[in-house]
Parts: sequence; C-alpha cells; structure tokens
Amino acid sequence: MKRDGATISLWQPGITDYLPKGSFKENAIYDVVIVGGGITGISTALLLQKAGRSVMIAEAQNIGFGTTGGTTAHLNTLMDCSYDHVANRFGKDNAKLLAKGTRLALDKIREQVKEIDIQCGFKEEPGYLFAQDRQQSKELEKIFEASKEAGVEVEYSSTTPMPIPFSKAIVFARQASFHPTRYIYGLAEAFERAGGSIVQDCRVTKVDENELIDIDTSKGSVRAKSLVYATHIPPGVNMLHFRCAPYRSYVLAVKLSNPKDYPEGLVYDMQEPYHYFRTEEIDGQKFLVAGGEDHKTAHEENTENCFLRLENYIKKYYEVEEIAFKWSSQYFEPADGLPYIGHLPGHPGNMYVATGFGGNGMTYGALAAIILTEMIVAGQCEFEKLFDPNRVKPVAGFNNFVKEAADVVGSLVSGFFSKTKLEEFTELAKGEARVVKFEGQAIALYKDENGKLHAVNPACTHIKCTVNWNVSEKSWDCPCHGSRFSMDGEVLTAPARKDLATINVEELVEK
Ligand code: FES
Repeated sequence: MKRDGATISLWQPGITDYLPKGSFKENAIYDVVIVGGGITGISTALLLQKAGRSVMIAEAQNIGFGTTGGTTAHLNTLMDCSYDHVANRFGKDNAKLLAKGTRLALDKIREQVKEIDIQCGFKEEPGYLFAQDRQQSKELEKIFEASKEAGVEVEYSSTTPMPIPFSKAIVFARQASFHPTRYIYGLAEAFERAGGSIVQDCRVTKVDENELIDIDTSKGSVRAKSLVYATHIPPGVNMLHFRCAPYRSYVLAVKLSNPKDYPEGLVYDMQEPYHYFRTEEIDGQKFLVAGGEDHKTAHEENTENCFLRLENYIKKYYEVEEIAFKWSSQYFEPADGLPYIGHLPGHPGNMYVATGFGGNGMTYGALAAIILTEMIVAGQCEFEKLFDPNRVKPVAGFNNFVKEAADVVGSLVSGFFSKTKLEEFTELAKGEARVVKFEGQAIALYKDENGKLHAVNPACTHIKCTVNWNVSEKSWDCPCHGSRFSMDGEVLTAPARKDLATINVEELVEK
C-alpha cells in the first residue's frame, strides 16, 4: 500500500494494494461522487449507500494514500481544540454539541467494526491528559471543568500509565484506537460488496456545475447529483485554503526492552507542541506509538531533527529495543479550532467538503460522514451550523494566522540559492536538494541516492508559492496551503491539482 511520502508507517506493512472489484463506468450517473478514499470518503460512501444512494469514490492514488495511512489513529472525545476554547468561542451549547458529535462518531466506528466484523484491533481505552507545571495545571483545570460541563466523561486521575512526571492529570473515559488501514479496507470491501464503486488512480481534473455535476477525471467522465471533496483539503482555490494551515507531525513506533512498559491507554502531555502516545499490538507484536514535534509544513529546515527530538524524548523514559517505524504526516489546523464540514464555500448547491480536522482526523472523519450523509439525504443536520465551512468566526490571531503564511513565501523567495553556472548544480551531494536560480529561472533540484538529478519548477501549481524540500519524505512541500509533490513533481497532496513542471537539466547545460 502506497502512502504520500518516502517513510513507511506502521499501517503499511502486510497491507496489500487494495484491488477494487468494479471498474470505471464512462458517463455513468451517480447520486454522489466522493473525491478521496481516506476515512472521510469511505465512511461517507458507506453511510450514503445505506441510505439508498448510488455512490462512486474517485481516489487519485490508492485508498489510504493520504493522512489515513499516516495517522496514529487516536479516537477521541478529548479534542485538540479543548472544550473551554469551544465554549468561549462558540458558546456552551455548542461545546455540548461538539461532545455529542464526537461521541456519536466513536460509537459509529465501534458499530461499523462490529457489524462488518473488521479485524482492526479496535479497542476502547482511557485517554490521559497531564500537566507538568503550574501554568499547565491551571489550563488543565479549565479543560476539566469545560469538558465536564459539555457532558464528556472525564475525571481527575492520580496516575497515568506512563513514567513521565506530572503535576496533575485527568482521564477521559471510552476513548479508542484501531489499525486505520485495516479499518478502511473493511469499510471499502463492505461498500463494494453492496454494489458501491471505488476507482483508484482516478484524479478529478475538472468539475462543472450544470443541471447535474459534470466530473472529468483521468479515467473519463461521470456525472452526479452531489459531489463531496474528502481530499483532506479541497483542490483548486477556495477560501478554506486561507482558513486552514498545514502542519506536519512526526511519529515513531518503537519496541520496548521491557514488555511490561507498554502503556495501557492513550496519553497526552501539554507541551507546545504536545506529544501523544499509545500502544498498538499488531499480530502479537507490541509497539509504543509516540508522536509530536509538529510544525507548519515546509517550516523546518531539516525534518530529521524532529524525529531525533522525539527519539530523545522517548529515551528519557523508556529503554528502547528498536525503532521499528518512523514517519510523518500532514494535517490542517482550522483558524477557529473547529473543522469545516458542509457546503463548499462558493458552491451553496450540491458540492460538499470536510476539512480542517487538526489532530483529530479519525474522529472528525467519522463525524463528517454522519453530517454529510444527513445533509445530502435529509437536507439538514443538527451539526450543520457548528461546522459550517462558510462561517466567518472572528478569532483573535486570525489575521496573524493568514499573514504568517504570506511571510513564509516572501522569505523563501528571497532565500533562493543563486548560482551562475549550471555545472555547479551537479555538486549537490547524493540525497541533497536545493532551490536555485539559473538565468532568471528558479529550479528545484534533488540528487537521489544513485546520483540522478531530478529537476522541477518550484512554483507550486496551486497559487505559485515556492516549494521547500522535505528531507524525510523526499517531497517538495508548499508552505502556503500544504500542497506536496514527489521528487519528480507529481501531486501527492491537494490543494494543487497539477504536477510541478519537470525541467530537463541536461538541455539547460547544453544551451
Ligand atoms: Fe497554495 Fe502551494 S499550496 S500555493
């Protein structure tokens, strides 16, 4: 199973490529076409199908290619944007609604696992959040009060399942975890068994809203009454790109020397950025799955340092036998803390979107499926207003949130490495990458481990910010809205729709 980076996540080994049962049907008409085959797209497809709708999933690569294949699969009602923030920004009733929605999402996942009999290690377990100083303790008390008031099952705890010192801790009941790719494969198979259609390597290239929605793809054309963008962030240019900031998070799955050390439960510290932990057992082998060291996409000069910091953090508290897997993954942080689920801004009709899940992608993916299905089938949903993508929520810091992205562009462009002789490009070390200028033309160069040069135009095909090299994932990442491209320019992550233009370096040398 392929993923959107060079590293291998814990969820890839042993997972063979998904082989859809059906094939692309030229000019077919569906009730709903869903773009994107991650947890959001597949969960939505299944619920719509259960409601009697004909549905096709168009996935540009393979299912699980995006963040579902790179998550740490924490299933929470304890959210990144805590209930005290939600109560302050959206009101106490909406904090209650959020608690209700997230519980509904987790219950739906549990129900699907049971009903379809998916062998994905789904496990309900407690989730611990702990403070390590006075400031964090104060914050923790606020989170506790607001969570309780919102109706979340939470208590103070005198222990956590980890050996990290803490001053105060709370524990959330009935959080959960699972093996994410096994879960979505189970959903996908159930969806296809019931007549649904999944088409992989099927990139949507053009969408026209007519009486029906005309959808051009790399495989041909289809039409639909409704379309859902479940692509993590919608492609093209939309106001949501200015309301969501792309972040990378880093994960290590390690084997511990002492089998008794694996924590029972999900655990979170309150550092900035925070770390998150859990244990996963796959076919009898346990792993401590530890994540953190997040930063804005393309803002870290050497992403390997993030893995190193994470490794040092773990080794302070555990004797590590082996680092079995290391990988990084992308998420989109919403400006006001809550995701955007509902009508695609600028398209009030039958185009829908789900994005801005922050670090709660699995929970919000499942919740988005419930919301979008109700909106499409019943025309309304009780959560519709809270997550409305068209909401304009004045939030302190929003201007900086947008401005920060703009600043990055400026700094990168002025930071171009300027060369006068093209021959010097070949002095790049193996595994090194650089954006250079040659006779006024910017070139993004990467020399692979075999000494072969890969050259592309660094102007992101979304709205032309300059991409930056991600040394761990061997990808060109855009700091503005998070598009990512392979070393040869192929789109890995939306919102870009088009590949980076490749440049023939030899031709330039000969000029
Ligand atoms: Fe928007 Fe690159 S993702 S300019």
